[in-house]
Amino acid sequence: MITPFTLSLLAAIVLLANCRHDVMHTGPDDSDLPAGTSFLEPAAQRNGDAQAGYQYLIYGNYIGSGIPLQVFKQFFGANSPDDLNRTGDADGVPFNFNVVTASNGVKVVAPTCLTCHAEKLNGQLIVGLGNNTADHTTNQASMFQTADLAVKLLYGQNSPEWNAYYPASRASQTIGPYILTKSRGVNPADKIFATLSAHRQLADLAWINTAQFDVPLETVPTDVPAWWLMKKKNALYYNGLGRGDFARLSTASGMLTMLDSSEARQMDQKFPDLMAWIRSIEPPAYPFAINQNLAAQGKVLFESKCSKCHGTYGTEETYPNLLVQLSTIRTDSMLSNSYRIYPEYSTWYNNSWYGQGPNKGQLLPNNGYVAPPLDGVWATAPYLHNASVPTLDDLLYSAQRPKYWKRTFDNSDYNKEKVGWNYTVETSQTNINTYDTTLPGYNNGGHTFGDVLTDTERKAVLEYLKTL
Ligand code: HEC
Ligand code: HEC
Repeated sequence: MITPFTLSLLAAIVLLANCRHDVMHTGPDDSDLPAGTSFLEPAAQRNGDAQAGYQYLIYGNYIGSGIPLQVFKQFFGANSPDDLNRTGDADGVPFNFNVVTASNGVKVVAPTCLTCHAEKLNGQLIVGLGNNTADHTTNQASMFQTADLAVKLLYGQNSPEWNAYYPASRASQTIGPYILTKSRGVNPADKIFATLSAHRQLADLAWINTAQFDVPLETVPTDVPAWWLMKKKNALYYNGLGRGDFARLSTASGMLTMLDSSEARQMDQKFPDLMAWIRSIEPPAYPFAINQNLAAQGKVLFESKCSKCHGTYGTEETYPNLLVQLSTIRTDSMLSNSYRIYPEYSTWYNNSWYGQGPNKGQLLPNNGYVAPPLDGVWATAPYLHNASVPTLDDLLYSAQRPKYWKRTFDNSDYNKEKVGWNYTVETSQTNINTYDTTLPGYNNGGHTFGDVLTDTERKAVLEYLKTL
């Protein structure tokens, strides 16, 4: 007999069956996944015009405050090599800066995304390759104190020039002490945004002088991921923290100098174009000879030992979008843990304009790291999210990884045998060019999946990785 009870039971079963159907559509069944991993669900992304996005990247005013053009020219000259072939005011300004017109009409020189998302390799500028040479070990505040004096002296403190410059100086001096790394070549961007959020009003993103929550002094060091990997990813950042709309997430750089949320809204209109351009870029090809027979043997090994996390490459590309738990990956835990120990930033973000409405971004802390796509991995040394391993050869054999290692930071000091940077092994951190893996956040352990390979097998996998 059909009673209301059996009807509702039937309805529940149908509902459950539908839910299950949905899960099957968006990702693999959990039981098919490698142990200790979970699937990162995709989110809808806005479309954009890639060419317009590139123009915006190199000419755009997303950072709308900076050093007045005349002062910049006096300090640094205006004859830097023009790697981007830009025209107009930006001609002669280094590639990582742009000349923009501040909201009050004054021309200023402001940093661009390429400060961190472009790098030279073997003498050539590669836009989208993460910067791995910048020195963030000293506090920029004193540089801005000097510039403060210069701007005041030249124009006076009530001048339009000062007003166009001040937001950049204020933000840079405020975050200075919080974003110091312990060696050259690692990046403090996670901490830049966490610190800025403590100085931005939730409602309209306007600047507040006194931090609204405590920010720890400790800096989490990271590498900068290559932009050409983004098109495959369902979640941004090493720990898969960034969910929702990638364009919205990337506009957070506006927190450095924006006056209020109207600037954030303008950026939000333009950033889908920039994301479209980022999705369109391809990795650079390995520029030296490759032993194709050896690489073919490596492919077989890679597909049996590595593809379940890193996907397959070539004509049939797959990428599983997995987050690997800390207890499985066992690489340095500081980056992943910091978002859970200090939830203030992600909570602020999710409650702010950035985390609300259509096209919202979300920061959802995780326990682990994304297994990244490995396209162009030959070009992205040093390795792991904290840049703690100088070569792929060392990454694939954990016992061989150097505890203290020093490189020259010459972008052509490349090692074809080990695939990565030439380095010398040191016994302590003698200066900032030495990476000290004993420091908190700088540990080089974990990811031991290559250890089971024999020397011959490792050489084959290494050769294959050059082809990606
Ligand atoms: C001060 C350096 C710095 C600047 C400037 C910067 N970024 Fe980044 N960016 C990083 C670092 C470091 C990461 C990785 C952070 C992490 O995963 O924890 C990153 C990650 C990203 C990612 C995610 C990539 C991925 O695969 O997960 C995107 C997209 C991105 N940045 C876009 C931009 C855009 C667009 C701009 C300019 C508006 C910009 N960034 C400016 C340092 C910077
Ligand atoms: C269980 C999943 C898993 C397996 C299996 C795995 N990896 Fe990884 N791999 C990861 C994760 C997660 C990371 C990021 C770890 C981090 O940065 O802390 C990573 C990072 C890497 C990197 C560094 C990428 C970069 O740009 O820094 C390389 C190279 C790499 N893996 C190669 C391999 C190879 C080769 C194999 C097979 C021998 C392999 N992996 C097996 C999960 C895996």
